[in-house]
Amino acid sequence: MPTQLQSRPRSSQSGSADVGIALQGVGRTYRDRRGAGVRALDAISLRVAPAEVLAVVGPSGCGKSTLLELICGLQRPDQGTVACAPAVLMPQRDLLLPWLSALDNAALALRISGLSRERARARAAALFAEMGLDGFEHSRPSELSGGMRQRVAFLRTLLSGKRVLCLDEPFGALDAITRAEMQEWLAGALAREPRTVALVTHDVEEAIVLADRVAVLSPRPGRVLEVLEVEAPRPRVRTDAALIALRERALGALQGAPTPMVGAR
Ligand SMILES: Nc1ncnc2c1ncn2[C@@H]1O[C@H](COP(=O)(O)OP(=O)(O)OP(=O)(O)O)[C@@H](O)[C@H]1O
Ligand SMILES: [Mg+2]
Repeated sequence: MPTQLQSRPRSSQSGSADVGIALQGVGRTYRDRRGAGVRALDAISLRVAPAEVLAVVGPSGCGKSTLLELICGLQRPDQGTVACAPAVLMPQRDLLLPWLSALDNAALALRISGLSRERARARAAALFAEMGLDGFEHSRPSELSGGMRQRVAFLRTLLSGKRVLCLDEPFGALDAITRAEMQEWLAGALAREPRTVALVTHDVEEAIVLADRVAVLSPRPGRVLEVLEVEAPRPRVRTDAALIALRERALGALQGAPTPMVGAR
């Protein structure tokens, strides 16, 4: 469980401060007190260029959340190297502070970065309506639905202003319509203000609608089975035949069907 959400820049291992995200030969094993281990990730090599969106899909327990925590510097790998520009994690569980209002939760990263309460609140409040949260600015997290809490956590992550966003199933708690709206909102926000994004999702369509590339991981220990290039222009149309074909291909890879490698870097 991460106790901090934001990382400092770490580039010494790659030798390049301009890298978006670079993982080279990364492995991670969790050990209990008796030394027994769970191998979560193995031999992960991935690069995400600045302003590129990489989606990561894989079966439950294959190490996706672990991967994001490694990228953000909340864990260290046992093998390999991780380099990343300043990053922020939106954890799989929303981790809102129960004693703060929705507005103050959303504005938290801005406050931490030194903005006054009034200015931080004003910047967060301006986005509440777009998130379908207007009227709930002063509600405590316990008074919000799961999907609303997730949108507050999403806002907090975006407002951090970090160059790298690590999003762990950011829309997993949302109904299908709100999820599609949030995906479109994120796509628009990234078009206006590009960021480097590592997006973990169990929704293959979401991966293909939002990402430049989709990394498909194997069951634990997670290894990169395939990296699919999504070359369709933006804004993307879900019913685009090329996107549907890619979705089938990603699903095939997830289900272990043999598919030729495309665009693996
Ligand atoms: N802090 C921890 N201590 C021990 N084992 C852990 C810890 N965190 C994760 N694991 C184990 O590592 C493996 C990968 O977990 P992780 O949460 O990264 O998977 P995931 O792909 O995100 O799964 P999900 O799709 O269900 O969220 C699992 O077997 C899990 O039990
Ligand atoms: Mg997870």
